[in-house]
Amino acid sequence: MLTVVTNANIFTPLGTKAKHGTEMGSLHHIPNGQVEIEDGIIRYAGPVRDHEPADRLIDAGGNAVLPGFVDSHTHLVFGGYRPDEFMWRMRGDTYMSIMERGGGIANTMRATRETNEDELFHKALEYLHAMHDMGVTTVEAKSGYGMDRDTELKQLRVIGRLASEGPINVVSTYLGAHAVPPDYKGREDEYIDFMITEMLDEAKPLAEFCDVFCEKGVFSIEQSRHLLQAAKEKGYKLKLHADEIVNTGGAELAAELGAVSADHLLHISDAGIEALANSDTIATLLPITAFALREEYAPARKLIDSGCAVALASDFNPGSCFSYSIPLMIALACIHMRMSVEETITALTLNGAAALGAAEEIGSIEPGKVGNLVILDTDNINMLPYHTGINLVKQVIN
Ligand code: NIG
Ligand code: FE
Repeated sequence: MLTVVTNANIFTPLGTKAKHGTEMGSLHHIPNGQVEIEDGIIRYAGPVRDHEPADRLIDAGGNAVLPGFVDSHTHLVFGGYRPDEFMWRMRGDTYMSIMERGGGIANTMRATRETNEDELFHKALEYLHAMHDMGVTTVEAKSGYGMDRDTELKQLRVIGRLASEGPINVVSTYLGAHAVPPDYKGREDEYIDFMITEMLDEAKPLAEFCDVFCEKGVFSIEQSRHLLQAAKEKGYKLKLHADEIVNTGGAELAAELGAVSADHLLHISDAGIEALANSDTIATLLPITAFALREEYAPARKLIDSGCAVALASDFNPGSCFSYSIPLMIALACIHMRMSVEETITALTLNGAAALGAAEEIGSIEPGKVGNLVILDTDNINMLPYHTGINLVKQVIN
């Protein structure tokens, strides 16, 4: 099966590793380009050339062609919604105060425990189709709204089914350490031990990553280290929700453990920035969460200028960020976090792929990579933030 995309204005980062620092801003540009995809794998990306008859010939008409977007941080599978909590926050309540009153993650936990597997699947599947329409070809999805054994495994099975039946590639993460479940209040260490002794082995066939909400009032640095070290020994790749609400040194812990990514980082310290800059850990920023929580944005400029590899992701979840809007994310990254368009594209493609340990397979348009492409409705990538919040994706190839 041969797919040829011709008359393409190609913009792509190149390589099989994350781009750090200023490298993020330079994209490879092929103005009169062509991409040839054979059996799902790119065999050629370069100037327009003659080719044998294609099974699928797509004339991009000079429009911009980018690698498929990678949304490397979502909480895609959940029961219920929390619109009332959103309005409480708009009136001045904090995310943590709602959580302390038994709402927040515990609210979605109750709804997710009560929702059957099929319903969870169909709800998440609709979101996946909507993400695909905005150019996302790979998404990460976390458990973490069950916290008991059965519901965590139920969520992970749903993620597995989405991966095999859904429209895009799905990567699975076990996030049992998303909150302290109500029956373990005051016994956080016991919950960590429960996950280590009873959950990690069972979840392993269903999850590639292990993640933890490392935060004041949730899981401490010591508890996070204990869990993640055990997960690493069992073959998980690691992620952390780090320095989101206050600084706890989560970024430093991510670098110390060789985590694939440290996510959020609104309150990362200078020492944390230095630790990430000197590591292979990706700094994954989630601007729509900061926007929806009315918080300061993560210091993207400082991270990039210090030599970190920055990825952008949605954090789609029913609480802090009920949005997976790629156009909004790009606009916030450019307007409020002062990233260039080129940097946002790298952050959403090659660096997003690296945040999933998958930069050898996806994230750029070059021979050997999976044929995941986005064709825009414009030849000009500056339109992405300028046409603020508008979806400019015309066609997705995956
Ligand atoms: O990444 N901070 C922790 N977890 C999610 C929020 C989940 C929720 O509120 O349901 C986040 O923002
Ligand atoms: Fe999250």
